[in-house]
Amino acid sequence: MSEANHQPKMRKAVYPGSFDPITNGHVDIIKRGLKIFDRILVAVLENPKKKPLFSAEERVSMIKEIFAGQKNTEAKAFHGLLVEFAKKNDAKVVIRGLRAISDFEYEFQMALMNMKLDPEIETLFMMPNLSYSFLSSKMVKEIFMLGGCLKDLVPDQVEKKLREKFKNKHPSLNL
Ligand code: PNS
Repeated sequence: MSEANHQPKMRKAVYPGSFDPITNGHVDIIKRGLKIFDRILVAVLENPKKKPLFSAEERVSMIKEIFAGQKNTEAKAFHGLLVEFAKKNDAKVVIRGLRAISDFEYEFQMALMNMKLDPEIETLFMMPNLSYSFLSSKMVKEIFMLGGCLKDLVPDQVEKKLREKFKNKHPSLNL
């Protein structure tokens, strides 16, 4: 094929999760993923059953704010099957972060189930920097509620939103 006709295919991946809220560990995975893919679509699970602290719109808006001006990263809320969402958005790869061996069983099960649902979709596991291997959204919320320091754990925008959220939920807390 001549070079003029050869349009390189855009490599696009979906990075799904609850992101309640997004942490520096997630940001690290997105940045690493962008070394491999041209575009990353951060897919925020809209699942009211999980009773998230932030609504899907709030979680998407935080991610958009953090990656503002970066055309290679976008964020959308989704519900239903991940493989359907990936297909609808022209992505054939799902990225998941693996922090520790303890993540493996759940991730392995999910990757194999997604493979069964759609063999065209591949799951790619990536490891965050060691300094984020202990980090989770659940821990971030707990540390924040107990007055601990979130420095280096979440982007500034997230800390600000946590402050606003807890001020509204618990006005008596001196935040
Ligand atoms: O950050 P999380 O909560 O570990 O992310 C889990 C997520 C969103 C990736 C997973 O729950 C998911 O893909 N949900 C969509 C429903 C689905 O496709 N289920 C079948 C595969 S197990």
